[in-house]
Amino acid sequence: MTLPADRVDELRRLLEHHAHRYYVLDAPEIPDAEYDRLFQELQALEAAHPELQSPDSPTQRVIGAVLEGLDPVRHAVPMLSIQTERDTSEAAAHRFDARVRKGLELKDDAPPVAYSAELKFDGLAINLRYEGGRLVQAATRGDGETGEDVTHTIATIGDIPPRLRGISSGVIEVRGEVFMRRDHFERLNEQQRDKGAKTFVNPRNAAAGVVRQLDAGVAASRPLSFFAYGLGDVQGWEPPPTHSALLQALAELGVTVNEDRDVVLGAEGLVAYHARIAARRDLLPFDIDGVVYKVDSRVLQGQLGFKSREPRWALAHKYPAQEQLTRLNDIEIQVGRTGKLTPVAKLEPVFVGGTTVSNATLHNVFELRRKGVRVGDTVIVRRAGDVIPEVVGRVPGPRAAYVPNFRMPRQCPVCSSTALRERGGVDYRCSGGLFCAAQRKQALLHFAGRRAMDIEGLGDKLVEQLVDGGIVRTLPELYTLGIAKLVALERMAQKSAANVVAALEKSKHTTLARFLYALGIRQVGESTARDLARHFGQLDRVLDASVEQLLQVNDVGPVVARSIRTFFDQPHNREVVEQLRAAGLHWDESAAAADDAPKPLAGKTLVLTGTLPTLTRDQAKAMIEAAGGKVAGSVSKKTDYVVAGDEAGSKLDKARELGVTVLDEAGLTELLASSTSTGTVAAG
Ligand code: IVH
Repeated sequence: MTLPADRVDELRRLLEHHAHRYYVLDAPEIPDAEYDRLFQELQALEAAHPELQSPDSPTQRVIGAVLEGLDPVRHAVPMLSIQTERDTSEAAAHRFDARVRKGLELKDDAPPVAYSAELKFDGLAINLRYEGGRLVQAATRGDGETGEDVTHTIATIGDIPPRLRGISSGVIEVRGEVFMRRDHFERLNEQQRDKGAKTFVNPRNAAAGVVRQLDAGVAASRPLSFFAYGLGDVQGWEPPPTHSALLQALAELGVTVNEDRDVVLGAEGLVAYHARIAARRDLLPFDIDGVVYKVDSRVLQGQLGFKSREPRWALAHKYPAQEQLTRLNDIEIQVGRTGKLTPVAKLEPVFVGGTTVSNATLHNVFELRRKGVRVGDTVIVRRAGDVIPEVVGRVPGPRAAYVPNFRMPRQCPVCSSTALRERGGVDYRCSGGLFCAAQRKQALLHFAGRRAMDIEGLGDKLVEQLVDGGIVRTLPELYTLGIAKLVALERMAQKSAANVVAALEKSKHTTLARFLYALGIRQVGESTARDLARHFGQLDRVLDASVEQLLQVNDVGPVVARSIRTFFDQPHNREVVEQLRAAGLHWDESAAAADDAPKPLAGKTLVLTGTLPTLTRDQAKAMIEAAGGKVAGSVSKKTDYVVAGDEAGSKLDKARELGVTVLDEAGLTELLASSTSTGTVAAG
């Protein structure tokens, strides 16, 4: 039996250790959720045994320390934290609203309290000090009283203006969160993996590492973003009377403020906001770990005051953690479309990022070794956004020496062809090509995908049956499928067979960009395919383009150019292309040559919201992009048009609030059509 006093000591030691890894080294060893569990265990023990309480316990202090090499900065106004509610259910919002009402001594029949509801960005808090409108210093939070001077790295962040608009005197300290967008994080880790270098656990650690770099050059090459959410020291400037108006005012000073904020009423409003953002969490381009509620009125905030260094007027209401611990039960090999063999972790199912995960990628065997992972270990799993869940590391524990218990197979597990690794590369590939059933299945699924030929009904199960039954061996053979062949398959009704045949027929009318993407050429993603289509206009010109000609295309470098050339040099691939054309695949080649066509929406930013009557989101996006426009995820003053369909939500409200022109689908079509001949934009 462990004595409570011993366990308390042990927990304090563990928490100190992990806080140091997290705050000082930016290299945590355990997920936040695990840290929280340890923290709560200590809190509970201290509550049950008051004699064990101590002022230097991690439960009694704001942890965080200054890294050697960065200068300490004493904050003019301490940087506080907010009360965090880990209960992710609605009840937490109700309890907060009840506490606020009680604190304000509101009667039951008094009107609901107005709250500013915001995202809780998962990055690191930064204080930006502007004097006379100029950025003079940027500092981390540190322990709340003293942070570190990181002006040199913060100055490389594009979202942070060196000057405030319209301010030339006084002091304004803007506080907000510096973070790394998920796509930038993925790209950074991909680069690290390609170099065989250490990857970052999550975007927050990557961001913290970049901000606390001593070398600003490294920071500049790893893009960070920023959203403001409050103020520090202010002299000679009167902030607006509500928090929501303050955020608006900051936006007008030129500081980036997130658009997904809202003013909501009472507990119901908080609950609805929490749910609305939860539904969109995976679609956001960055990680959030919850939402934040703040009493909107500054006067009411003042009445509520603070409780042990946390404002009573604010609450962080969390979402399910995006990292969890679980057991690595086994490692299997998955064969991808291009033959890449990926080690996939078979996990003890675990609830992470809002869903239950039982498979996660281990990327490649070198990364696995670097992380020192073995089957049987307790590992950290991360699932965020639409990124494939991944094993980010193992929990350090006693182990004499690392002896791997997994080895890459030298043969493809599906077709037994030799597995080869390119010199200097990290990936093993099956050399079987389309002889390999796994590659064939993936190639067909990619071809049929929504963003490629968009063949509805041709999913996993059907492809599996078609390939395993030897019915479809090549892409063109898909188009020889008739109702009879399909109905002969297990669990395939007449009606579904007819639907698949109709979908195949429909897919024949496509675009050159989609066709090029559907072929599954290595290195050719959707946007490269679009660039190729736009540049060359005709398929034959792409087929015959030399590497030099390919290099002329926007964003095409030597690796991509060579990959395209190699692909079309294979007689087998040429044959596939010809057979597909012979099967009746067609597109408008004059429309594809959009490089010569006018770009009516060049420089324009549009936002899509709600369901359009006939166009899918992807179609509308493609049309706008083909016309040179950009599609953004949220409405701001920089938005030129909002295209709204049924059940358009807060973006439509926002557009109206900012006076942005709102179009329906017909309006969009008109805008695209009316201007193609004239090259000007019709103001709607
Ligand atoms: S307000 C006095 N708003 O969460 C209130 N914080 O402990 C100060 N955070 O350290 C914080 N998004 O780094 C606030 N919209 C938001 C936030 C936010 C993220 C972070 C911040 C702070 C921690 C809360």
